[in-house]
Amino acid sequence: MILAGGTGQRVGLSIPKQLLKIAGKAVIEHTLTTFEKADSVDDVIVLMAPGYVPDVEKIVAKAGFRKVSRIIEGGSTRNETTERAIAALGEGLAEGEDLNVLFHDAVRPLLSQRVIDDCVAALERYQAVDVAIPSADTIIVTRTHGEDGEFITEIPDRSRLRRGQTPQAFKLSTIRRAYEVAAGDPNFQATDDCTVVLRYLPDVPIHVVAGDEYNMKVTQPVDVFIADKLFQLGSTAAPEQVGEDAYRDLLTGRTLVVFGG
Ligand code: CTP
Repeated sequence: MILAGGTGQRVGLSIPKQLLKIAGKAVIEHTLTTFEKADSVDDVIVLMAPGYVPDVEKIVAKAGFRKVSRIIEGGSTRNETTERAIAALGEGLAEGEDLNVLFHDAVRPLLSQRVIDDCVAALERYQAVDVAIPSADTIIVTRTHGEDGEFITEIPDRSRLRRGQTPQAFKLSTIRRAYEVAAGDPNFQATDDCTVVLRYLPDVPIHVVAGDEYNMKVTQPVDVFIADKLFQLGSTAAPEQVGEDAYRDLLTGRTLVVFGG
């Protein structure tokens, strides 16, 4: 499920950031290319920002993506978009039959095949899977005191902190159940899907797969520049896939390494 229902307010363009061209292709086209190439993926559904479905239809037709079976409108929040995705799934499933579902932010165009495969493999053992990387920054928790501004209330141990990425992967029955329970909570609010499982199905363990630094989310204007640069360098793979020497060369700009995602 490619979550592309947002409008990219923080990047601040007149079009949703997933349609912005980076390295010659729309962000969402890069993302769809990765899933099209993934052996472990059979079917792709795009949830697009209202009013922009025809733009994705054109991209899919031009690129000839064969796995994209549906392009439908997303909801007004990310979680509403996921709910629409869940509603679109599982029609025609036999009793007791389940599906592996990966939810991925359309605006993470540098996802590697390794992360997709690790998520799918993890679903053989777990019903819920997240992708995360260690935090390089110290994370502080703050509270705002009126006009005096923000103050620190907590500094969690950095060695246990991770930055969540996507995909987030689930058995369809599990994520559907989590959203059904969440529907009964009038204060329901979340920014991702693992939160919904953690909060409403607390007995379900959520396994964590290692993400990678390249799998960045295009969020702020500066990210457009960084993503463009990374594509130029052909760096769609994690350092361990590239080999340490090539990675070092890549970072120092000594060689242009081109390898597939
Ligand atoms: N998303 C979605 N439906 C929404 C909101 C977000 O499918 N109603 C998707 C976005 O399209 C994006 C991903 O969730 O692929 C991550 O969200 P974010 O980076 O916050 O995207 P936007 O909501 O577009 O950005 P902003 O908050 O700056 O408006």
